[in-house]
Amino acid sequence: MIQFLLNNTPVTVENSRPTITLLDWLRKDRGLVGTKEGCASGDCGACTLLVGEQVAHGSSEKQWRYKTINSCLMLLGNAHGKHIVTVEAVTQNLYADVDELHPVQKAMVESHGSQCGFCTPGIIMSLLALYINNASYPGKKAVIHALGGNLCRCTGYQPILKAAEKAFEYERQPVAWAATADSFARSLRNAGNSLKEIPSLRFEQNHFYVPQSLKQLVNLKNQCPEARLIAGGTDLSIEFTQQLTEPAIIISVTQVTELIQVSDSGDGLVIGAAATYADFIELFCRHYPESKELFERLGSEQIRNGGTLGGSLGNASPIGDPAPLLIALDATLELVSIAGTRHVKVEDFFTGYRQTVLTANEVIRQVLIPKRPASLKLASHKISKRFEDDISTVCLVLAVDHADDQITAVRCAMGGMAALPARAKTVEQQLLGASLSQHSFNQAASALAQDFSPMSDVRASAEYRLTVSQNLLTRIGYEFCQPIDVVNVAEQPAVRIAHASL
Ligand SMILES: Cc1cc2nc3c(=O)[nH]c(=O)nc-3n(C[C@H](O)[C@H](O)[C@H](O)COP(=O)(O)OP(=O)(O)OC[C@H]3O[C@@H](n4cnc5c(N)ncnc54)[C@H](O)[C@@H]3O)c2cc1C
Ligand code: FES
Ligand code: FES
Repeated sequence: MIQFLLNNTPVTVENSRPTITLLDWLRKDRGLVGTKEGCASGDCGACTLLVGEQVAHGSSEKQWRYKTINSCLMLLGNAHGKHIVTVEAVTQNLYADVDELHPVQKAMVESHGSQCGFCTPGIIMSLLALYINNASYPGKKAVIHALGGNLCRCTGYQPILKAAEKAFEYERQPVAWAATADSFARSLRNAGNSLKEIPSLRFEQNHFYVPQSLKQLVNLKNQCPEARLIAGGTDLSIEFTQQLTEPAIIISVTQVTELIQVSDSGDGLVIGAAATYADFIELFCRHYPESKELFERLGSEQIRNGGTLGGSLGNASPIGDPAPLLIALDATLELVSIAGTRHVKVEDFFTGYRQTVLTANEVIRQVLIPKRPASLKLASHKISKRFEDDISTVCLVLAVDHADDQITAVRCAMGGMAALPARAKTVEQQLLGASLSQHSFNQAASALAQDFSPMSDVRASAEYRLTVSQNLLTRIGYEFCQPIDVVNVAEQPAVRIAHASL
């Protein structure tokens, strides 16, 4: 069985289809229809709700942290141990004895932030997360970021942005569910201490397991090599909901302690395969600030709150954004099975379109990113049709080391140009040993056509992909050779076209 807190009610579920999404379960099994289904694929935000989880805060007791999630992508089994807060909790008195709207609701009404209302529950939940996680108005940029995964077709965003600001002007509303959530956490801890079984769901012969340790995970994967692993489900759930596949066994990696850790080892960064983007972006960007925009533009807030590096690499998509970055930084994967541990460079991990070296009983445990050389220059660029919540047409990451004005090491990796993320070896040869000058990057841009013969598809033509990539290399020449603040490019409109509203 799995256990979680649904609004203010502890819930236990034993029998349920392992592939059922939290959205379907809420609407069909619990009749909680406030959470809406729009696209059913993570693109519109109508299904947004809050997921609370217990996180360690220094040496003190664990505290609840709340984040937004697309419930059309999160599977019910992954709710184990969490606090699921739906829009019903905002309207029905979880916020307590107050017989009036919550500040975010009141602000939406007074700012005329809703017309047909279909997107409104999702927008309320995104604004609620913003409200809970910020003591005062965090500014327009933070609001746009928080709403990046919420589409509204009819109201227009200005009233909604205004509502986000206005919500902070009313008397502050405390989180009223704290006591219920703490008592649920205590009861779960006590149950966990006496429980020997791995939390699971079952329906007829199908199972969903939520192992809590690496040992449990590799044992399970060894016993059931055909089982599908799931992390955030932001890729895999779509296979269940759209292709209607029903694997007999699903194993969640989201609660495996050894897979959710994130640290700076001194020799580099260690990112657990099941740590979410939201969990590691801050640490990653402290060491590699040039990757900030790439991560901030990866999906939406809801996607970054659920998605993981293990999921991105395990999915082996040629247009996943993390792979070019990790290849350019020469990162290594730690793969674990019952037979032991092995290390594979990210660039050697992919063997073909959506194929990897992973064996049936192996899992990705963590990603090891080497320590940054002081003289490294890094540039990462994503070209997509929309600024937010859009998959890459092309992604280019270039890492160059240099001594005086000569390039001494170079790694250039690209996504969207071939069946798998790959290095641009001719570009690298062209740059290695060359002077750190605009001329060298112009030459490298010309060499790029020898590395890739991209394809045309719905995102872009082959010619566009090649031309835009060559332009990016020329542009990186400017970034590396001229005194431009590449870390704060969004603040320099002359250098970068940022989000239209900023
Ligand atoms: C609306 C939307 C927008 C998106 N935008 C972007 C974007 O801008 N850029 C981008 O790169 N991606 C984007 N994605 C894709 C997706 O969010 C990412 O690839 C994400 O990192 C997947 O992680 P996950 O944890 O959700 O993977 P899951 O869906 O849980 O798993 C994906 C695959 O990885 C395997 N897997 C998971 N964990 C492990 C492990 N530890 N070991 C071995 N295999 C494992 C699973 O078996 C599965 O095959 C988007 C997706 C959606 C729905
Ligand atoms: S229904 Fe559109 S994001 Fe979930
Ligand atoms: S109010 Fe109609 S979609 Fe937003």
